[in-house]
Amino acid sequence: MNTKNLSFRTRSIHVGSNRDPQTGAVVPPIHVASTYVLPGAGEPSEFDYARTGNPSRQRLEQLVASLEGGVGGLAYSSGMAATHGAMMLLKQGDHVIAGADIYGGTYRLLHKVLNQAGIEVSLVDTRQIHRLDQAARDNTRMLWLESPGNPLMSITDLEQCCRWAKSRKILVGVDNTFATPVLTRPLEFGADIVMHSATKYLGGHSDALGGVLVTSQTEILERLHFFQNAVGNVMSPWDAYLVGRGIKTLELRVREQSSTALRLAEFLSQHPRVRSVNYPGLEQHPGYEIARRQMDGAFGAMISFEAGDDFSQAKTMVESTGLFQLAVSLGAVESLIEQPASMSHAAYDREDRLAHGITDSLVRISVGLESFDDLKADLSQALDSMD
Ligand SMILES: Cc1ncc(COP(=O)(O)O)c(C=O)c1O
Repeated sequence: MNTKNLSFRTRSIHVGSNRDPQTGAVVPPIHVASTYVLPGAGEPSEFDYARTGNPSRQRLEQLVASLEGGVGGLAYSSGMAATHGAMMLLKQGDHVIAGADIYGGTYRLLHKVLNQAGIEVSLVDTRQIHRLDQAARDNTRMLWLESPGNPLMSITDLEQCCRWAKSRKILVGVDNTFATPVLTRPLEFGADIVMHSATKYLGGHSDALGGVLVTSQTEILERLHFFQNAVGNVMSPWDAYLVGRGIKTLELRVREQSSTALRLAEFLSQHPRVRSVNYPGLEQHPGYEIARRQMDGAFGAMISFEAGDDFSQAKTMVESTGLFQLAVSLGAVESLIEQPASMSHAAYDREDRLAHGITDSLVRISVGLESFDDLKADLSQALDSMD
């Protein structure tokens, strides 16, 4: 089937999901084989060994590449493995500029792993283009962005940053985990690589671990595949199946969860025990206008807010919810709550964390598919528990 001209929602269901020609099964089988019979000794075949390629993984790669509008994709064992896969394009002596509002694990990879390979990093507030000018060096090779950022929900103008980077021949990678391709497709703004923690919205049900890279350029895809095959960092067929199944409902989930999130953000911003709310769908959010342009009709389902006065009050709050489960991760049908300072961003050095505005009283929620009324009641009683 030619799927090129089909809408996003239809492609989510049909790309990579061709019926099984042997049996007519509507859902393709999960291919578990680790090795494949060759037509002859030394003769090439589409699949030869599962580290190099696997049909279940390939189906997912084609699907995410279609949704992101890239030439191809690669599926990894986790989101961090995918980020690391992209960073393997760098070599000793190169410099990376990354957003200041990024996932704690990416911070750790850059500051505590890649630095050992002689790769330098600067964290920059990517909302301000002059800060990129200040940070750029002759050896800057990559700009790594997140929008909305994690956990402060900062909005970076992707088009502006990509234009800036292109003029300096700097590669742009965007961690699109929070926005998903339903709301933002970074390659359309000029990014070279898009990364997903497929563990989150793509999978959507808290039951699979994986990461995906999609790129707009065949040459980059080939290099990424060379590194992936050399290192062996691949997604399992079972996870590829689960993530692909999750993607069939991605648009419905993301739009519904975003609409509940907007209502919860409005509720939180009126609450006396909440000092501030970070949600790009609120008009008072500094990135609201950019988000309206860059995000397709909704603002995502992640919110962060300052609860109470200090670390221990915020801790009490996150430990007092019932429906919002106290857990890292995000993007699934069930709502989650966490305290970045002690959980998702605990990998930050404390001074760096505070300098980047990730305070002790910050709380982050991932809004799931439960009803607005039930989620509001749950947050309300947890905020009251701080008294
Ligand atoms: C924005 C973002 N990027 C990357 C990751 C890493 O993904 P994974 O946990 O699948 O390795 C996460 C995980 O929480 C994340 O939130």
